[in-house]
Amino acid sequence: MNTKEYKKIKPLEKPENIFDLKDRVAVIVGGAGKMGQQFARTLGFAGAKVVIADKNEEKCKKLAEVITTLTNSQLMGYKCDVTKEKQIQALFKGVYNKYGKIDILIYNVMAKPEGYYRPFKDYLARTWKEVLDSNLTGAFLCCREAANYMKKSKEGAVVLTSSTYGLVGPDQRIYKNCSPKKNIYGGTDPLNCPASYSVSKAGLSGLARYLATLWGEFNIRVNLLTPGGVYDGQEESFHKEYVDRTPSGRMAVWSDYNGAILFLVSDASRYMTGTNLIIDGGWTAW
Ligand SMILES: NC(=O)c1ccc[n+]([C@@H]2O[C@H](COP(=O)([O-])OP(=O)(O)OC[C@H]3O[C@@H](n4cnc5c(N)ncnc54)[C@H](O)[C@@H]3O)[C@@H](O)[C@H]2O)c1
Repeated sequence: MNTKEYKKIKPLEKPENIFDLKDRVAVIVGGAGKMGQQFARTLGFAGAKVVIADKNEEKCKKLAEVITTLTNSQLMGYKCDVTKEKQIQALFKGVYNKYGKIDILIYNVMAKPEGYYRPFKDYLARTWKEVLDSNLTGAFLCCREAANYMKKSKEGAVVLTSSTYGLVGPDQRIYKNCSPKKNIYGGTDPLNCPASYSVSKAGLSGLARYLATLWGEFNIRVNLLTPGGVYDGQEESFHKEYVDRTPSGRMAVWSDYNGAILFLVSDASRYMTGTNLIIDGGWTAW
């Protein structure tokens, strides 16, 4: 930027301007999930037009209707399976054709295929690949496609949702008393954090930093959001062990990350790129 251009940067003072998303177009991929729904509501309340993209077509369309009524903003559900490259291309082309721009991409996909919780020694390459394809390769493809359109307007905010398990290894002791029968996420294995998940989330951090440096000249910012675990009715032995290791003394609730997402996609963070916002109740602080 040449020195005269600094004067053109709009000063940001009032909170309602700093966090305003009016006229911004956002795509939340994996948006029908529990956290994705929260993000869709928050962005809708802030005035954005939001596309909830998910492989669960019925759920994303229903959510879009409900949140449109709730927020008075414009939401749309769009079926997209991120393991299908053509569906990803169709999603971003479709959004661009409808709204004429794409300002925000949030990548929230988490896949739990059959055999997801198997112990490492028995983990199938097929399951590993499915997780990586969905959580990581899908993010690469979505970023690649979204950037085609963000570059046109020389503006964009991308947030990749990672996890504390992309930063640190799981403390395996918190799972030691988990029972296969009590795994609320299904399957025949007890709750644990599979290596496929950790690796996919660690990969997102490399992707965010890489793209931040690649796209700085287009004013496309790429950051990670790193949440800690959310209380979702998990069995008590796990919950207790988790809470015992969390400085804040509790797991997260679903709305705990809404402030962070609004910060990351709005002008509030306009000078932030290639970095990681960790919101984990202090889990990684020990
Ligand atoms: N829930 C937590 O405790 C927690 C903690 C840390 C990080 N995270 C991260 O937050 C994000 C959201 O988590 P969540 O708890 O809301 O998960 P969720 O399972 O409720 O949502 C994930 C969504 O991804 C969608 N999805 C899966 N495979 C897909 C595919 N191939 N194509 C398109 N969509 C697909 C699912 O349909 C679902 O709607 C994830 O990236 C997760 O890793 C969650």
